[in-house]
Amino acid sequence: MLQHVGESFGHRFKFSAQLIGGVAIDAVGNPCPDDTLASCRDSDAILLGAVGGPKWSDPNAAVRPEQGLLALRAELGVYANLRPVKIFDELAGASPIKHDRLQGVDLMVVRELTGGIYFGEKTRDEDSASDLCTYHRYEIERIVRVAARLAQNRKGNLCSVDKANILETSRLWRDVCTQTIADEFGGLKLEHMLVDAAAMHLINRPADFDVIVTENMFGDILTDEASMLAGSLGMLPSASLGDTTRGLYEPIHGSAPDIAGRGIANPCGMIASVAMLLRHSLDLQEAATLVENALRQVIANGARTADLATGDEAVLSTVEMTEAIMRHIA
Ligand code: IPM
Ligand code: MG
Repeated sequence: MLQHVGESFGHRFKFSAQLIGGVAIDAVGNPCPDDTLASCRDSDAILLGAVGGPKWSDPNAAVRPEQGLLALRAELGVYANLRPVKIFDELAGASPIKHDRLQGVDLMVVRELTGGIYFGEKTRDEDSASDLCTYHRYEIERIVRVAARLAQNRKGNLCSVDKANILETSRLWRDVCTQTIADEFGGLKLEHMLVDAAAMHLINRPADFDVIVTENMFGDILTDEASMLAGSLGMLPSASLGDTTRGLYEPIHGSAPDIAGRGIANPCGMIASVAMLLRHSLDLQEAATLVENALRQVIANGARTADLATGDEAVLSTVEMTEAIMRHIA
């Protein structure tokens, strides 16, 4: 796809393929090898496939594929994970949510990606276990700024999601968020919402959300939920950004081992991630828009992968869907 876009626009991209996750464990015993890190640091943008699989799924294994992804996110300092949820009207039938609730849904979840319980100290003995959740003021300030800037260029509504009735980290989150918006983003409408209520409202009145900012684990959970608005987990892209233009781009779905090797995975989340890569890291706005429009057009024309099919439409394979989208990019 990138090569194709490059050719259409007269750009030459230099690609380097590197190992991460399960295959990296098999090859060098490390889910995030030094060569991979070095190559990512050397690149303007990183496009990432999924990291896991049944072969490496033992939750008690000392080395797991997911550690590779977490290490990469942390090492690259990409603390802001942008997960846009856009609805294609034509896919309303693929969503389990009632049609009328989906009208006007266009939201962006900004997930904190390099802190919180994902990265805290873990302990385990025979009868107990713990995962430490820590947030620092600077981590909250910088993610809130990213979300607030996005909201300023959208509808101007920011919803910060936490669990401040229970968690100390959430109480700090709420205070810092309120302060940062008051000090730096006057005019922005800020609302705080508890994560359990947010989970409900995402289904009940999803069109009311504009930008949601939340901590690492809440963002992980809420975006899988939000993907059902779009009809399939396979539709959602993401961009992980830090303080530079270098970014890490990946669909929000995992390796889908249940359908592995059958050529039926939905490539749309990955292709939409390519569009985000062109936009945010390479500043190729026109190319990004072209990819997004091609994707929209192909869906509008009725092309469906298996996860999106609702009746007796012809179902396209991963390759066929990708080719259909590429044909719209002259
Ligand atoms: C995601 C995934 C990852 C996460 C896993 C694979 C570590 O679920 O990107 O949403 O939990 O962040
Ligand atoms: Mg997830």
